[in-house]
Amino acid sequence: MTEGGVIDAATAMTEQSTVTQATATKIAALPDAQVVTAVRHYTDRLFSFRVTRPRSLRFRSGEFVMIGLMGDNGKPLLRAYSIASPSWDEELEFYSIKVPDGPLTSRLQHIQPGDAIILRPKPVGTLVHDALLPGKRVYFFATGTGFAPFASLLRDPDTYERFEEVIVTHTCREVAELTYGRELVAGLAEDPLIGEMVAGKLRYYPTTTRETSPRMGRITTLIENATLFADLGVPPLDPATDRAMVCGSLGFNRDIKLLLEAAGLREGANSEPGEFVIEKAFVG
Ligand SMILES: Cc1cc2nc3c(=O)[nH]c(=O)nc-3n(C[C@H](O)[C@H](O)[C@H](O)COP(=O)(O)OP(=O)(O)OC[C@H]3O[C@@H](n4cnc5c(N)ncnc54)[C@H](O)[C@@H]3O)c2cc1C
Ligand SMILES: NC(=O)c1ccc[n+]([C@@H]2O[C@H](COP(=O)([O-])OP(=O)(O)OC[C@H]3O[C@@H](n4cnc5c(N)ncnc54)[C@H](OP(=O)(O)O)[C@@H]3O)[C@@H](O)[C@H]2O)c1
Repeated sequence: MTEGGVIDAATAMTEQSTVTQATATKIAALPDAQVVTAVRHYTDRLFSFRVTRPRSLRFRSGEFVMIGLMGDNGKPLLRAYSIASPSWDEELEFYSIKVPDGPLTSRLQHIQPGDAIILRPKPVGTLVHDALLPGKRVYFFATGTGFAPFASLLRDPDTYERFEEVIVTHTCREVAELTYGRELVAGLAEDPLIGEMVAGKLRYYPTTTRETSPRMGRITTLIENATLFADLGVPPLDPATDRAMVCGSLGFNRDIKLLLEAAGLREGANSEPGEFVIEKAFVG
């Protein structure tokens, strides 16, 4: 477990062992039930949680699954969620928004260790290494909870085996919204599995847009005016060397796609790898 992980294994065991008979009965009644092992709240709009991993679940770092709770009508209420933990982890981690009147997250934000959630074990998605052509440098461009798939990829040794340089940008409105990503990245250097691989390869570039912080501005603006490249001391985007994965709102994805295409990068997919791939962090 990295320092940036949500809890340590001992805590998870303790918390898991507090499952009551009533909870166990509730869990058994749920289809595809998994047990919550840890929850951490970052702001009034953001939290992360870990759940048990079905033995049979195989996924590629960066993919998403459908998770949820039982609705009042007795039917599962499911939403797409990126798996934020890497494919080797024994548990599954998720990084979530809390939408005050959101059908799922108005309830999901109250989960506690020992509770059950529904998890459909059918991972899919395009933010996977298989959808990118080989390259020298990979950019992970995230806004808001769009950091989640990169929390998985950043903890995957494959990322550092495939690329000489890994640059992760995360843009949020406020400083506190960067906490999950910042702690995760800080913990990577201490990680016994990939600490050495990360050294000298990983660059973290957080920015805020509405609260003052050391680096401010939309990442699209910082690409357009070349501040990003000047700050990092790297050349401008080049399809010969650079690859990108993008995860944010529809507007963000649209705007950054235009910039990547203007630089000559082509969008890829599982069926036809390319120079960049995009996934929605949410709809609406
Ligand atoms: C491929 C994919 C992967 C996703 N992965 C994640 C993830 O890892 N973490 C996560 O929190 N959400 C993720 N989402 C969004 C998620 O599916 C739900 O929309 C979210 O959990 C809110 O559910 P809800 O039922 O409470 O509200 P919904 O009815 O689903 O959404 C209500 C409104 O809240 C806003 N909203 C929803 N999700 C977000 C968000 N993540 N960030 C900011 N505003 C939002 C939108 O304006 C939306 O119209 C993903 C969506 C897609 C399509
Ligand atoms: N974050 C909050 O504090 C907050 C509070 C209450 C409600 N909400 C609601 O929650 C929803 C999602 O908010 P969010 O903050 O999680 O996600 P978001 O609106 O997608 O913003 C996340 C970050 O991405 C930037 N961004 C947005 N569109 C972009 C684009 N086209 N190109 C480049 N950068 C872009 C934003 O910059 P800008 O700031 O310049 O837009 C912000 O820094 C919104 O409907 C919002 O009204 C958010």
